[in-house]
Amino acid sequence: MIAFALYNLKGGVGKTTSCVNLAYLAAKEGYRTLVWDVDPQSSATFYLRKSEGLNGKAKKLWEDPNQFSHLIEATDYDNLFIIRGDLRNRNMDLMLSDLEKSKSQFKKMLKTIKNQFDYVFIDCPPVLGLLAENIFRSAHFVLLPLIPTTLSKRALKQVNKFFVDHLYDTRKIVPFFTQVDKRKKLHKEIMTAFKEQRLKHLRSNIPYSSTVERMGVNQSPIHTFSSSSIPAQAYRNLWQELKWLRKLKQLA
Ligand SMILES: Nc1ncnc2c1ncn2[C@@H]1O[C@H](COP(=O)(O)OP(=O)(O)O)[C@@H](O)[C@H]1O
Ligand SMILES: [Mg+2]
Repeated sequence: MIAFALYNLKGGVGKTTSCVNLAYLAAKEGYRTLVWDVDPQSSATFYLRKSEGLNGKAKKLWEDPNQFSHLIEATDYDNLFIIRGDLRNRNMDLMLSDLEKSKSQFKKMLKTIKNQFDYVFIDCPPVLGLLAENIFRSAHFVLLPLIPTTLSKRALKQVNKFFVDHLYDTRKIVPFFTQVDKRKKLHKEIMTAFKEQRLKHLRSNIPYSSTVERMGVNQSPIHTFSSSSIPAQAYRNLWQELKWLRKLKQLA
């Protein structure tokens, strides 16, 4: 099992959108895939047509990793499963801090399902605390969507610094560009600067497109209603690139 976390300290960059579309593509290829919605806003849960809330089961999840698999539910799509988001997850740092090994709880939980899934996609809230530490420890890759603006570079730096300060492996961080508008000079400049300075990022990027926004109206992954659109193809390219990450191949 490989766990990808969709993470960025910034909100509105495309974490949830990317999480749902990438997970859908993995499942479509026949891989057993889980979306774990950790964000209390529960947008990934919404896109997959589930209602928010773990029905009082949330507490168990934190106390006993062996209960983790009971939270998994099927979605409308073959091979695609979900752990719903829950508003109570907004207190997750507090819940985690009560535990003995508070930084490794996610790792323990994921271990219990490692033979059941090929891929897990974790949709994260934009926070940097105990929850983030759990995510950074348990995920094999931290996919970081970046809108090519000055602030995105700053966000990347901050995440990098957090990894270095806490002795996490910075090789896990995999940035990629989203909501790219090639007509914008700044977008082009930032992306060129990334290339020239050899800052690590994936080659595939996701263009800005109003078709992506329709995911909210349709409550489904983009490939189910606009499979031949440019952003749908961009997500397919991104997924192919992810599968070929060297470390991923080593781990598989
Ligand atoms: N490539 C894109 N083009 C246009 N709009 C996008 C794109 N990606 C995301 N969006 C829109 O931007 C908003 C934030 O995206 P979302 O994935 O929810 O971000 P995050 O999870 O990082 O907060 C949503 O309304 C979404 O529909
Ligand atoms: Mg989100």
